[in-house]
Amino acid sequence: MSTSNEVTGADSAPDDPGAEEPAAGSSARAANESASEAATGAPSGTTAVPDQATAPDTPPRDVSDGRPETSYDAHFRVWRGDPEGGRLEDFTVEVNEGEVVLDIIHRLQATQAGDLAVRWNCKAGKCGSCSAEINGRPRLLCMTRMSTFERADVVTVTPLRAFPVVRDLVTDVSYNYTKAREIPSFVPPAELAPGEYRMQQEDVERSQEFRKCIECFLCQDTCHVVRDHEENKQSFAGPRFLMRQAELDMHPLDAAEEQGLDRKTSAQEEHGLGYCNITKCCTEVCPEGIRITDNALIPMKERVADRKYDPLVWLGNKIRRRS
Ligand code: SF4
Ligand code: SF4
Ligand code: FES
Repeated sequence: MSTSNEVTGADSAPDDPGAEEPAAGSSARAANESASEAATGAPSGTTAVPDQATAPDTPPRDVSDGRPETSYDAHFRVWRGDPEGGRLEDFTVEVNEGEVVLDIIHRLQATQAGDLAVRWNCKAGKCGSCSAEINGRPRLLCMTRMSTFERADVVTVTPLRAFPVVRDLVTDVSYNYTKAREIPSFVPPAELAPGEYRMQQEDVERSQEFRKCIECFLCQDTCHVVRDHEENKQSFAGPRFLMRQAELDMHPLDAAEEQGLDRKTSAQEEHGLGYCNITKCCTEVCPEGIRITDNALIPMKERVADRKYDPLVWLGNKIRRRS
């Protein structure tokens, strides 16, 4: 997760694309008005009288305040603070058609809260930077459409709860990088040179799903094992990194075991696979739709149980280890 666009309002105002939002909003509004002008033949800013014979069922546009009827004022409640503490601040802020929560946060930076800190990069659901909690649910700010809320709803935006706050909506997610470093990477097979690797398409597709991960850490944030129990972080890698272990364990070319690394035992005994009680909360919040629990964690648990309790598998492993 890059931090190149950690925006702290006024500090970064000259280069802050968010600061251009009002202009973008204005031009969008101007575009709307031009489109309306073309459609009705009336200049923007005036109320066109619809032709009764052809008038659509929808009511005429309200232009009394110069805004299209798709524009409205929303009630936002945003957490402001730092590691010492903070509070929720209320804002009334303009929302336009097609906007996402990140647009509104940018508008707040540009108009009312110049020093509001938020982390983001791509605004396309691909970098995993803009993770936060919206009305208590872990979500990407840039992929949460304002149209999912009623106009009267209060939209509450808070930082990820499982990680320490840096400032406002920015959290310190280094727990995840620590866990990532603890997992040994793919071990190439000794007898094959790069370029000679061959896999069944079925095996490629199985791990392809896990490769879609954008490392937004929403699954890590939502998992109750660490969300409410800071003390578990030491011994629990979290769904994203247990999934990584499961992916490597099912990789047909991974030669970890030949090197004495048993990924199943490692997942269970060093990275806390046993803490997971397959509630599937991680799967529910994953913006990539990865079936973390069904396709990674449960199969991994089954393989761990096979290894430990199936007498034939147990015997086979003993023999293999001796030879
Ligand atoms: S399924 Fe397991 S890893 Fe996922 S949220 Fe539940 S306990 Fe955590
Ligand atoms: S598995 Fe899904 S929720 Fe978890 S970090 Fe990856 S993309 Fe985000
Ligand atoms: S800004 Fe990249 S995922 Fe939201």
